[in-house]
Amino acid sequence: MNVYEAIFNRQSIGKMKSDPVAREVIERLLAAGVQAPNHYKVRPWRFIVLTGAGRERIGQAMAESFRKKFPEAPEEALHKEAAKPLRAPVVIAVGVEKPTEPKVLEIENICAAAAACQNILLAAEGEGLAAIWRTGDAARDPLVKSFLGLEQDQDLIGFLYIGYAEILPELKIRPGFEDRTVWLD
Ligand SMILES: Cc1cc2nc3c(=O)[nH]c(=O)nc-3n(C[C@H](O)[C@H](O)[C@H](O)COP(=O)(O)O)c2cc1C
Repeated sequence: MNVYEAIFNRQSIGKMKSDPVAREVIERLLAAGVQAPNHYKVRPWRFIVLTGAGRERIGQAMAESFRKKFPEAPEEALHKEAAKPLRAPVVIAVGVEKPTEPKVLEIENICAAAAACQNILLAAEGEGLAAIWRTGDAARDPLVKSFLGLEQDQDLIGFLYIGYAEILPELKIRPGFEDRTVWLD
């Protein structure tokens, strides 16, 4: 697949079948992720790949946190929270390593990890997979970060939900670059 085809055809798809994604396919996506540019070659991305029962366990952490925040929440709301990571057969949580030396800037590490995420989304497109980058409260949740083995001051920039599409939505035409671009000749 041509790179432009991957870029223009990629779209966020949330509804996926429960069919598993082969381990070697997931590894190809991660390998694409780590081709991203990163200043000082610090490789700041951290991937936690959740499949099978791993998704149930993070769902429990999310529901537990929800219960702490909303002690009066009905069981149904807790179940809904716990089921969120089950929306795809693969969820890749992406954390960002904090700089350990002054020349490395936090924002640059975040940019590099975000570039890795986009590489993964494009590689997923190339593999014929559906994917969506999600954040939400869970991405800022202390219990979720602990569950994932991340430090509390570490950024968790998203969860990449990956699987095979239930239905392929019609391709949308996005607004162009023109109103977001100036040319200085
Ligand atoms: C940092 C980031 C966080 C996002 N978080 C969510 C999210 O929590 N839930 C969601 O449905 N989509 C989320 N998205 C996906 C955007 O909603 C989506 O990219 C946007 O609607 C444009 O659609 P497209 O990806 O199909 O072009 C996120 C995207 C990014 C880059």
